[in-house]
Amino acid sequence: MANETNIFAELIAHCKEYGYIFQSSEIYDGLSAVYDYGQNGAQLKKNIRDYWWKSMTQLNDNIVGIDAAIFMHPTTWKASGHVDNFSDPMIDNKDSNKRYRVDHLIEGHAETLPAEDGKNLLDAMDAFLANDDFKGLKNLIDEKKIKCIVSKTCNWTEVRQFNLMFSTEFGAVASDNPEENKVYLRPETAQGIFVNFLNVQKTGRMKIPFGIAQTGKAFRNEIVARQFIFRMREFEQMEMQFFIRPGSQMDWFNYWKEERKKWHESLGIPAEKLRFHNHVKLAHYADAALDIEFEFPFGWKELEGIHSRTNFDLTQHQTYSKKKIQYFDNDLNEEGKPIGNYTPYVVETSVGLDRLFLTIMSLAYTQEKWTKEDGTEDSRVVLKIPAKIAPTKLAILPLIKKDGLPEIAKVLMNECKSSFMCFYEEKDAIGKRYRRMDAIGTPFCVTIDHQTKEDNMVTIRYRDTMQQERIALADVKKLVMEKTS
Ligand code: GAP
Repeated sequence: MANETNIFAELIAHCKEYGYIFQSSEIYDGLSAVYDYGQNGAQLKKNIRDYWWKSMTQLNDNIVGIDAAIFMHPTTWKASGHVDNFSDPMIDNKDSNKRYRVDHLIEGHAETLPAEDGKNLLDAMDAFLANDDFKGLKNLIDEKKIKCIVSKTCNWTEVRQFNLMFSTEFGAVASDNPEENKVYLRPETAQGIFVNFLNVQKTGRMKIPFGIAQTGKAFRNEIVARQFIFRMREFEQMEMQFFIRPGSQMDWFNYWKEERKKWHESLGIPAEKLRFHNHVKLAHYADAALDIEFEFPFGWKELEGIHSRTNFDLTQHQTYSKKKIQYFDNDLNEEGKPIGNYTPYVVETSVGLDRLFLTIMSLAYTQEKWTKEDGTEDSRVVLKIPAKIAPTKLAILPLIKKDGLPEIAKVLMNECKSSFMCFYEEKDAIGKRYRRMDAIGTPFCVTIDHQTKEDNMVTIRYRDTMQQERIALADVKKLVMEKTS
């Protein structure tokens, strides 16, 4: 674990050094659990988002995508249950005044114990959480003498609930009662889909079963914000609500559970690094729920949630808005009559884009060492990002910056750049340029040399194997497109 912790720290440093991720407002010492994506990070994030969007909306002819606003009418969050229920059990240390999410505090302690003891502790915690037994949780923390990481004492308050939604004021008019103008920054994108159910169903003439997909920012005032972009206060979700007939929810739940796992594997995530974890304690809206977990460098953690949300959300919005939200199913039942009106059930798939980004980066980040033919040691750091989502697909490198080589390189650049992201570089020795492209994760480098002027051939170098071969200049674009599509 110690070695994995080091590697994780090195990955974080690498993300900064190569323009992937920066601490937000770093020049002012940063803002905790908020991050900015740099030139390579923003492109990788976009590529992952596009891959998800395409596989949801383009490859499923019964799923459409929307883009709802972050601000929503405040009643939305009363109806959804977030005002009353979107809270976590917290505990404060009286000496340091540091507040912890109880489950994170206990999980942190469990990681320091021998495996069996850690497991027993987590089982005990799950049982108390499942019953909202706050006294039991407090006793567990006291009994195990769990300490605050800052004060190193066990001087704890009682366990209390704490709402995770951020709020702000809406409109320009100052009011004596701040509650009047209060709006929330959405803590999930899903509600933007539910309130638009009828708009999309009617305008798109959608027939059940069908899905509505959306990607966008969500905000949670996470108390314990750790592990880099794993748990952030501002993050991005990619969610899909699949509307179905009541009674069919377990079939669809199982269908999406398998589909989503396969989708992650299609991104190069090995099957053995993914597992299902069934929820012990179900959220207020769910009749079944599981996480697809990934083995991060800091252990198995949730990557995506699959939830059978029943008809809870649509029914709640119907009650609070006093507008009928139903679907008329004109398929025939066993008696040959239309099935008629009902409130659809929903199976949701919800994955954090930043968490998936971290998954891909932690798999891609590789340190390699080898002995060369002359007996000397060599090494490199390479990001083995799957070629189809790599931020830059092709680096175009004239061997030297004279003798007409840059001119040939620029013609190739102009030919390719409308089809995929290319990077042109003529400075430094070629070996150094290759290493920089390895560190950024560029899957293909093409070098134009003096021989190119004679025979129109170039050297293509493959990032993962470092192998090189000569191919026709005219074939470069086609080859890269084939390998990255
Ligand atoms: N609409 C359901 C929903 O929001 P969730 O399990 O709370 O369910 C879904 O969140 C996914 O969003 C998680 O699996 C995770 O990938 C991501 N996520 C949640 N909170 C996050 C945070 N604070 N930072 C980064 N990603 C987060």
